[in-house]
Amino acid sequence: MISTKLQDAINAQINAELWSAYLYLAMGMHFESEGYAGIANWYKVQFKEEQAHAEIFMNYLNSRGGRVVLAPIAEVPAAWDSPLAAFVATLEHEEKVTALINALYKLADEETDYATKGKLDWFISEQVEEEETAKGIIDRLKLVGDNGMGLYMLDQELATRVYNVPAPLASK
Ligand code: FEO
Repeated sequence: MISTKLQDAINAQINAELWSAYLYLAMGMHFESEGYAGIANWYKVQFKEEQAHAEIFMNYLNSRGGRVVLAPIAEVPAAWDSPLAAFVATLEHEEKVTALINALYKLADEETDYATKGKLDWFISEQVEEEETAKGIIDRLKLVGDNGMGLYMLDQELATRVYNVPAPLASK
């Protein structure tokens, strides 16, 4: 059975993942209303991924005899000045999530909970990927600048992103 300390920390992480989902949904809606269908698609896929992250933690907590407690999800912003501003905010947010996952790993280590450490391995790799993806899009947005054709082409490319069920859920 999982310790109360870790259970509380995982519940806080579930809330953080759901807040991330809420943030990316807001970004998706914002860019859809601004005419960036591809960026909107990218964020709507991200919204689903974050819900999946929360679900992985919820399934895990239940499997360890813990109790899932769903706290209120705090309000998120509703508008961003530009695609670049949104992706910079995305990267900053993902860096915070990485720090939360690392803190969770440290706590699991202190509690000598090897199963939780094992579960967190997937999230540690996932955060590397999430930060790298956001950084890559920021670099390209900087290169494109105010060039309408460049922005249009990047938007077209981001329209092709599809949601794939993350491995820890797909194997369930
Ligand atoms: Fe669930 Fe984007 O980290």
